[in-house]
Amino acid sequence: MDPSAFFTGTAVHLVAGKGGVGRTTLTAALGIAAARVGLEVLLVEIEGRGGLAAGFGHRALGYEETVLAERIRGRSLRAEDCLVEYLGGHGLGLLTRPMVDSGLVEVITRGTPGIKDILLLGKIRQLEQARCADVILVDTPASGHALSFLRSPQGLLDAIDNGPVNDQAVAALHLLQDAARCQVLLVTTPEETPVSETIETAYRLEDEIGLHLGPVLVNGVLARTPHRDTDTGHSNPDDPDPDDPDAEGRWVRELGIDRDLAHAVQQAAVFGRRRRDAQRRQVLRLTEQLPLPRLEVAHRPDGIDDLGALAEELLGGLRAW
Ligand SMILES: Nc1ncnc2c1ncn2[C@@H]1O[C@H](COP(=O)(O)OP(=O)(O)O)[C@@H](O)[C@H]1O
Ligand SMILES: [Mg+2]
Repeated sequence: MDPSAFFTGTAVHLVAGKGGVGRTTLTAALGIAAARVGLEVLLVEIEGRGGLAAGFGHRALGYEETVLAERIRGRSLRAEDCLVEYLGGHGLGLLTRPMVDSGLVEVITRGTPGIKDILLLGKIRQLEQARCADVILVDTPASGHALSFLRSPQGLLDAIDNGPVNDQAVAALHLLQDAARCQVLLVTTPEETPVSETIETAYRLEDEIGLHLGPVLVNGVLARTPHRDTDTGHSNPDDPDPDDPDAEGRWVRELGIDRDLAHAVQQAAVFGRRRRDAQRRQVLRLTEQLPLPRLEVAHRPDGIDDLGALAEELLGGLRAW
């Protein structure tokens, strides 16, 4: 698939998943990937959970846009700021500063379930309507919170029949349910709990909200050993073979290394093999239970110091798709 068509096929990409699976990292990497194919990108962080700016060497994002890199801008949305802007846009600008100062905004946004979420979704919708970028990538809260965040329009519609809140909820729901305007990219690691949570979240997002799901991003896939997996590009003939019963003895004889060290190396190889096998089983389970395309991102043992490399990996995955 043409990466550019992937990114522009939907105006807003909501990147969601369990905490710690790499949502923020992949939101940033997707942004770099989109910019590399010539698109203007806006990265959006919700409620200042941090991290997005750091990948670009910036300290933090604010409510107003920050230029993070060529063709990439970022901003952090807080419900309070969205409310102040909303009221200002509805002729209540003079009231808002005293409201913020008195803490009333805080009371309103915290005290009414779903209001905070609808303010944030309203702002995302406004950014989409204003066509402020070719691609809007949102680093969505962790899955439990993402579900309640994305369910808030329906919840408010069930509770409130008319008025501005109802209007906002209807508009937000229209955005969420329109595949040309919005899709969710679920991020998971190839491990049991995140995969289970991803499958459950996917069905709930579709069934309860009517959201459209893009490819699942499987992050942290371990590189495979060359001995049995000749289907991959990885090949290091010096890698220990976990299935070679004579490996330890041979190293001792040929390399003159200590028997304990040879044993430890072989144990590490066996452990690595088990982990890769376990990951493969989880990817298989994901594929069987969730009929969505997958984009895999390799585990980087030395950490993420180059988001560009991750972006290239994503672009490669998209092109091969
Ligand atoms: N493919 C990867 N290889 C190695 N480390 C990764 C990878 N993806 C993410 N990480 C690291 O995992 C940690 C959690 O990632 P982060 O994007 O902050 O997760 P989330 O936003 O889902 O909580 C970070 O330290 C990040 O650098
Ligand atoms: Mg994060």
